Amino acid sequence: MIEEIIQQHPAAYDSIKKATEALGFLQMSELSTCSLLKTLAAAKPESKFLELGTGTGLATAWILDGMDDESTLVSIDNDETLLSVAKENLGIDKRVTLICADGGEWIKKNANQKFSFIFADTWPGKYLLLNETLNMLEKGGLYIIDDMLPQANWPEGHADKVARLLADLDEREDVILTKMGWASGIVILAKK
Ligand SMILES: C[S@@+](CC[C@H](N)C(=O)[O-])C[C@H]1O[C@@H](n2cnc3c(N)ncnc32)[C@H](O)[C@@H]1O
Repeated sequence: MIEEIIQQHPAAYDSIKKATEALGFLQMSELSTCSLLKTLAAAKPESKFLELGTGTGLATAWILDGMDDESTLVSIDNDETLLSVAKENLGIDKRVTLICADGGEWIKKNANQKFSFIFADTWPGKYLLLNETLNMLEKGGLYIIDDMLPQANWPEGHADKVARLLADLDEREDVILTKMGWASGIVILAKK
């Protein structure tokens, strides 16, 4: 099967996955998405990375695995319980800073920072403060979102929000993007 993830999981991944399941956290990033993030991360050496929506750190582990030693990652979540799993398993890695904060507040306070890679996996940075977040992306930087295909757990009205987000992205003239009906539905865009 061509989509099978044969490559080795990051060292901390299986332990994070176990803790995630024990917490009953269901919004975790898919393995195929994690693998894609690692591949894209490897294409950005000596870069600054941002993840909005750490969860328990599943995707974080894969992004870190793709990053080189000169790169840094800031990852933000507003749930200290979820974040504590990421801290326990990934906190030893000096390249990552795990921050418990509201993503929207953090984006507003750090609007002048620039990143080469943004994985936006929560409301702020995706459905909220999209302009502000894309302004943080440097030229040639990558912005990645998932969950763009209909999901069983979407609340009523969410499909309209997704359609609006995709239309907003399509209308932008400062980005080049590809929409993929793969995994949970991925959009990758590069800043012009
Ligand atoms: C889809 S999950 C992230 C999954 C994670 N990337 C992974 O690899 O499994 C979305 C996350 O956003 C967090 N979240 C929700 N609202 C937030 C906000 N306003 N600011 C920061 N984090 C938020 C939730 O706690 C949750 O962990």
